[in-house]
Amino acid sequence: MNDKIKEAKDKIAEDLKNIMDENTLQQVKAKYVGKKGLITDLLKSMRDVAAEERRELGKKINEAKNHIEILLDQKSDEIKKVLREKTLLEEATDFTLPGRGMPIGAKHPITQVMEEIVYNFERMGFEVAEGPEIEMDYYNFEALNIPKDHPARDMQDTFYISDDIVLRTHTSPVQVRVMQNQLPPVKIIAPGKVYRCDSDVSHTPMFHQIEGLLVDKNITFGNLKSIITQFINLTFGENTNIRFRPSFFPFTEPSAEVDIECEICSGKGCRVCKDTGWLEVLGCGMVDPEVFKSVGYDTEVYSGFAFGMGVERITMLKYGVNDIRLFFENDIRFLRQFV
Ligand code: PHE
Repeated sequence: MNDKIKEAKDKIAEDLKNIMDENTLQQVKAKYVGKKGLITDLLKSMRDVAAEERRELGKKINEAKNHIEILLDQKSDEIKKVLREKTLLEEATDFTLPGRGMPIGAKHPITQVMEEIVYNFERMGFEVAEGPEIEMDYYNFEALNIPKDHPARDMQDTFYISDDIVLRTHTSPVQVRVMQNQLPPVKIIAPGKVYRCDSDVSHTPMFHQIEGLLVDKNITFGNLKSIITQFINLTFGENTNIRFRPSFFPFTEPSAEVDIECEICSGKGCRVCKDTGWLEVLGCGMVDPEVFKSVGYDTEVYSGFAFGMGVERITMLKYGVNDIRLFFENDIRFLRQFV
C-alpha cells in the first residue's frame, strides 16, 4: 500500500508535465481521483487493512490526494492562463488604425448659388420678398400684361389647377403682389420655385428663379445696366464680358436678354454656346406701363426695371454642368463636388 501511495505521488508530476490542454488534463484527473482512479482504489482497499494501521494509512492517502489535487488545480490554472494570453494576442486592438470619419452634410448647389445671389443683391440694398407657388391666373399672367391668347398660356407650358389657378410659371407675380401692397420706392428680390410642363437636358418641371424689381422716380435703363453688370461681375468674375440683347417680354418695355461671353471658347463659338460665342443668363427690362396701371402706380411719376433669372441655369454656367437633371438625382458623387 505504502508503495502504491508513493508511486501515485511521484508519477502525477510526470503525467502532468507536458499537458497543455484541458481534455488531457481531465483524463489524468480521472486516472488519479476519478471513480476508478488510483486514489479511489486505494481508499476502497482500506477495508482490507488491519484496524490499527488504518488510521495511519488513511492519513497518508489523504495527504497524497491533497497533493495530487493541488497539482491538478495548478495545471488547470496554467492551461487557462496560456489560453487567455493566446486569445488576447489574437484579438489585439490596433490603436494605430485611423478613425472612421463622420460624413458631413452640405447645402445643395442650387441652394448655395441661390443664397449667394440673394446675398449679393442684399448688399446692393434689395430686400427679399416671397409669394405663393400656387398662384392665381391674374397674378401669373393677367396683371403682367400677358393676354388670354399669349403662347405662354399654352397648356404645354403651364400646370393648371383650375381655370384661374396655376402653379406659377415664373417669379414675376411676386412683383405684382409687392406693388399692390406698397408704394414706391420698391427694391426687392424674390427667390423661389417655379413650374413648367417641360423636361429635357436643360428643363425640369420644377426649377428656381430669382426675380428683381426696382421702382422709384427717375429710374432708367442705365440704372438697370449698372445693377445687372455689378451682379454679373460678383457672380461670374470681374472681367466677364456682358452684352444686352434686345428681346421681348409682355411685362417690360423695352426688354433685353443678358448674355455673358462663353468661357469655354472665349467668344469664338463652340458647341456649348451653339457657335454664337454668348450664353444667355437672364431676362430684364423697364417695367411696362400696363403693369403699373394694374397696381395703380402713376406712370407719369414712377419708372422701374425688373429682371428674372433661372438659378439652375446660372449654376450650370458657373460650374460647367451640362445636364440640369443632375441637380435632382441626388447622386452623392455629383453633390460632393460642391462642398
Ligand atoms: N419672367 C421672365 C421669365 O420667366 C423673366 C423676366 C423677369 C423678364 C422680369 C423680364 C423681367 O422668363
